[in-house]
Amino acid sequence: MTSEPLYVWTWLPGLADPVVAGRLDAVGPELRFTYARSYRERPAAISLYGPELPLLAGQIPLPERLTMPGCIRDAAPDGWGRRVIDDQWPPDTPHGPEAECHYLLHSLSDRFGALDFQTSSEVYVPRGSGVRDLVQIQAAMDGIAAGLPLAEDVQAAAQRGTSLGGARPKAVIEHDGRSWLAKFSSSSDHYPVVASEALAMGLAAAAGIAVAPTQLIRIAGRPVLLVERFDRNNDPQGNWQRRHTVSALTLLGLSEQDARYASYEDLGHLLRGPLGRRGREDVRELYRRLLWNILVSNSDDHARNHAAFWDGEGVALTPAYDICPQPRHGGAASQAMAIIGDQRASVLSLCLQAAPTYLYTTAQARDCVAAMIDVIAERWLPMVEALAISPVDARLLWQRQFLNPGSWDEPHCDPGLRALLQQVRSDMERYI
Ligand SMILES: Nc1ncnc2c1ncn2[C@@H]1O[C@H](COP(=O)(O)OP(=O)(O)O)[C@@H](O)[C@H]1O
Ligand SMILES: [Mg+2]
Repeated sequence: MTSEPLYVWTWLPGLADPVVAGRLDAVGPELRFTYARSYRERPAAISLYGPELPLLAGQIPLPERLTMPGCIRDAAPDGWGRRVIDDQWPPDTPHGPEAECHYLLHSLSDRFGALDFQTSSEVYVPRGSGVRDLVQIQAAMDGIAAGLPLAEDVQAAAQRGTSLGGARPKAVIEHDGRSWLAKFSSSSDHYPVVASEALAMGLAAAAGIAVAPTQLIRIAGRPVLLVERFDRNNDPQGNWQRRHTVSALTLLGLSEQDARYASYEDLGHLLRGPLGRRGREDVRELYRRLLWNILVSNSDDHARNHAAFWDGEGVALTPAYDICPQPRHGGAASQAMAIIGDQRASVLSLCLQAAPTYLYTTAQARDCVAAMIDVIAERWLPMVEALAISPVDARLLWQRQFLNPGSWDEPHCDPGLRALLQQVRSDMERYI
């Protein structure tokens, strides 16, 4: 058993103050959740995620192969946040339920979705960081990445990176009265990671994909990508409201270890099934995100890089995020989530073949890809300039990431699309 009880608090839809929802208990290698009776009796109560934690009395058993409820795991830090916590409060043991509780209780409260974790069931005390200065936060991220011992105020700055998941250096900040995820560059980056993410996200919006709004700013001369949080709303009284949100990993009922079994196809089925609030519309949106990921070489499209809002009865895709082009050096590449069956090759021909599964005809899918290519052809260069990406970096990004021939210069590619892509590539050669 963990030494301290761990209570799960939640923000009910539309309310600015949290209430206690239940508790987590270690049972052997598992963490199991029990709703508080006081919560179940609230007329406005919703389940934290119904398919996994239905609003019932008693300790809720876990599905096979999960060691804690997925919707709770979604609110925990991942690689980066754990690294920051390890630096300041190393856990006694790195794995298992005690370690999970440790990370839940040492991360800041402004976390993903509408949950938080406390040792008290009576009093809610948010864990925050008083440091707001982005220069200081960036310096803290650098210090953590370099493994340097950090002074106390720098530690407080670094903690801003513990409330959201993911592996890259980040911090949750407020800026212009809105809540953002700030993504920093790292000294080990071999290409302009942050700027290329800004480019892929900005162009995705131009191509009609619902994307979290972004801004690329400079802190001490270095680019920092701000991604507006979709799980926060600022209500008219100036209070932050939180939206219940779950990752695609949770939607698919998969554990971290089984993430490789996640597929776009299964996610699409779920979105058009009884849980899907927007059904067909979301399935098609998911497919457009897949097409886009292939056009910009984002092969890191794993099931924590897709998410959906949960309103107590159903789910709807959140805006897209973490569209981060990966350096594709040609040859074979594959997507992190399978496209159809167990096929996951990063090629447009496979996507077109799979179109009916995502409620598009092949002809519609082809038109959709062509429209995306047109957006890239027209908007890529102006956006590269607006983002102040250097000519050398632009050339690298163009050759390796955007419209990489590996995804289309192959015998099964639709001839019309291939001709269009060849044309766009040769036109661009004149400018970069
Ligand atoms: N705009 C956003 N609003 C709310 N949560 C977000 C947003 N973008 C990302 N997240 C959450 O933060 C996590 C880390 O962000 P991500 O961009 O995926 O970083 P990384 O590049 O480190 O993987 C995501 O897995 C998701 O849970
Ligand atoms: Mg991510």
